Amino acid sequence: MTAEYWDGRYADAGDTRVSWFQDVPENSLMLIGRVAEAHDSVVDVGGGASRLVDHLLQRGYHDVTVVDLSQQALMAARGRVGDAPVHWVVSDVRDWQPDRTFHVWHDRATFHFLTDPQDQADYWHLVRESVPHGGHVVISTFAEDGPETCSGLPVHRYSADGLIAAMGEGFAPLETLREEHVTPSGGTQSFVWVLAQRI
Ligand SMILES: C[S@@+](CC[C@H](N)C(=O)[O-])C[C@H]1O[C@@H](n2cnc3c(N)ncnc32)[C@H](O)[C@@H]1O
Repeated sequence: MTAEYWDGRYADAGDTRVSWFQDVPENSLMLIGRVAEAHDSVVDVGGGASRLVDHLLQRGYHDVTVVDLSQQALMAARGRVGDAPVHWVVSDVRDWQPDRTFHVWHDRATFHFLTDPQDQADYWHLVRESVPHGGHVVISTFAEDGPETCSGLPVHRYSADGLIAAMGEGFAPLETLREEHVTPSGGTQSFVWVLAQRI
């Protein structure tokens, strides 16, 4: 998968017509709000053009970072929130080397595109390096009965237990959820969510 591919997806569909669009990312906000105060730092990995950043800013969060390999997607989000002090990072998460840590690592529907076992292990190594002990991870992927592909790309689907197992050592699961996401075209997609603490 390339940046050009994802830029094309956002350019073709528009950021409100992509299958993963949510006007209000309710599970993200609920789980982040459970473990983070407004002064805590939050990174949205593969955040794309998600409205999560808008809602976090509205709730007073002022240390928000959004990482995505699609510049097109980040420009759409930036166009909405204007000059708000958000850290925008155009990078493939597999190449990203953050020079700081985050209280909360959030990922909705990005990790599941990593189908190579080494990429998956490297991802969780990066999370362990980037979230200090006591911090939290909020992650969501397609469930085992969710779609086999997204945007024409294969995904790895997870049960809640499978996702917790993929995280490996260093995380204590606090909560799991299932969600039936309704796409803009009216279809449904099953997601699993895990809230975990870095230990
Ligand atoms: C299904 S979308 C989800 C976007 C956002 N999290 C949301 O919930 O609206 C997947 C996002 O991951 C980004 N992406 C895919 N692979 C990536 C990678 N290896 N590194 C960084 N971003 C990636 C895409 O550009 C896209 O914005």
